[in-house]
Amino acid sequence: MTTSAVDPDEVAPAVGDLDTIVSLSKRRGFIFPSSEIYGGINAVWDYGPLGVELKNNVKRAWWRAMVQERDDIVGLDAGILMHPEVWVTSGHVGSFSDPLVECATDHKRFRLDELPGTEDLSATDLLDPAIVERLNLRCPDDGGPLSAPRQFNLMFKTFMGPVEEDAAVIYLRPETAQGSYVNFKNVQTASRKKLPFGIAQIGKSFRNEISPGNFVFRMREFEQMEMQYFVRPGAEAASAFEQWLPARRAWYERYGVTPERLRLREHAPDALAHYTRQAAAWYLEHTGHPVPVAVDVEYRFPFGWKELEGVHNRSDYDLSRHSEASGERLEYFDQASGEHLIPWVVETAAGADRAAFTFLIDAYREEEVRGETRVSLALHPDLAPYKVAVLPLLKKRPEIVELCHRIKDDLKRHMMAVYDDTAAIGKLYRRQDEIGTPWCVTVDVDTLEDGAVTVRDRDSMTQQRIPVEGVTRLILDRLEAARNG
Ligand code: GAP
Repeated sequence: MTTSAVDPDEVAPAVGDLDTIVSLSKRRGFIFPSSEIYGGINAVWDYGPLGVELKNNVKRAWWRAMVQERDDIVGLDAGILMHPEVWVTSGHVGSFSDPLVECATDHKRFRLDELPGTEDLSATDLLDPAIVERLNLRCPDDGGPLSAPRQFNLMFKTFMGPVEEDAAVIYLRPETAQGSYVNFKNVQTASRKKLPFGIAQIGKSFRNEISPGNFVFRMREFEQMEMQYFVRPGAEAASAFEQWLPARRAWYERYGVTPERLRLREHAPDALAHYTRQAAAWYLEHTGHPVPVAVDVEYRFPFGWKELEGVHNRSDYDLSRHSEASGERLEYFDQASGEHLIPWVVETAAGADRAAFTFLIDAYREEEVRGETRVSLALHPDLAPYKVAVLPLLKKRPEIVELCHRIKDDLKRHMMAVYDDTAAIGKLYRRQDEIGTPWCVTVDVDTLEDGAVTVRDRDSMTQQRIPVEGVTRLILDRLEAARNG
């Protein structure tokens, strides 16, 4: 049994109201609405100075766990634009769609499975053309009558080259995975990897979502962190799947997500994505019982339990279809046995934005300190935008300011560090707490006498006095300890 049973009502979200995170993100420069001066563009968000650091750190942490720390996974950075046949062959042109309904009076469009009253419907129900009538569903905005559902393809289309004609239509990729499949032979030959091995990719994907929303949770332009693990067919794929599932959940915990706010949820057989149906059928036929082929790692967001990452057993669905369509056999030759085979794929598919969003929400803390509310982000030090802030107790003393800059410049050779003197020390600490800076180094008048500075810890608020020369080493050691802890 791979799916964990957690009662959704027993687990409270880290923040009750999403607006708390949205407003912190805007105010402190994590995330802004895109093209805001023109009124914004729906479902696209821009990362500000702190947000870009956080997201880069999330991507680095993923790459570290998936590529750097392993011998069996290599990286790839394939193009966003691919040959259009890729998407016909992969099944995305035919099947990558959501059920859409339209209101006859205000012409607003909704995803059928997100309307109130559709929570318990099966995937089969959602395909029923009479479902709107049967449940008497109405427009949630003006109560108007809704159309029967139709399948709406989520891929963005554009034209390649100077002529806007059908022959020039290409797609913005809706997943990075296909880049790894079409490059399977190139990567395997160049890296000489033997099964099992994986290809990891981080990059932008695009989906014309019918109902985007919940801040950066569902966007139309977003970034994925996907890994395709190539294995021997059947039993080996099932066991790789069972290994990757807890490993991926553990990655979120390693970087600080509260374990109780994570759970695993298996997809129902009639709700499987087109690329996992073949594996499900194969196991049923060959083992006589269902074997999990699609399980989501879910997080308790303020708006409910939602997918954070999907782990999928895609069988040889993609490689076989690309082999057939392209005429290029995407197979593996086992030199020991002389066998040619098309590997199966176990995919771990995460979102960089969704992961960064989760780390941000889960790190949010509010507490009373001496009659005031202290807001802090208890981000894992590896994820925090700044690792350390260097602060002067007295900015009027040039020797103090100069020493602060020397300490900060030395730290900057190794990590993101910042100097701030625009407020009194208490306020400076609060500002750094609110953006998740794990440590502050304060230079005071005594420093000029004894050569020692104060290092303050964000979470415990404890302070330690250490010699100036030891600052960079101490912070590097603490970062290392947090990374390996
Ligand atoms: N290659 C398989 C695949 O793309 P998916 O479950 O559709 O699977 C994987 O997407 C992950 O990508 C999701 O778990 C989520 O983290 C992220 N993701 C998908 N659609 C997204 C969107 N519209 N906005 C932000 N992140 C998204």
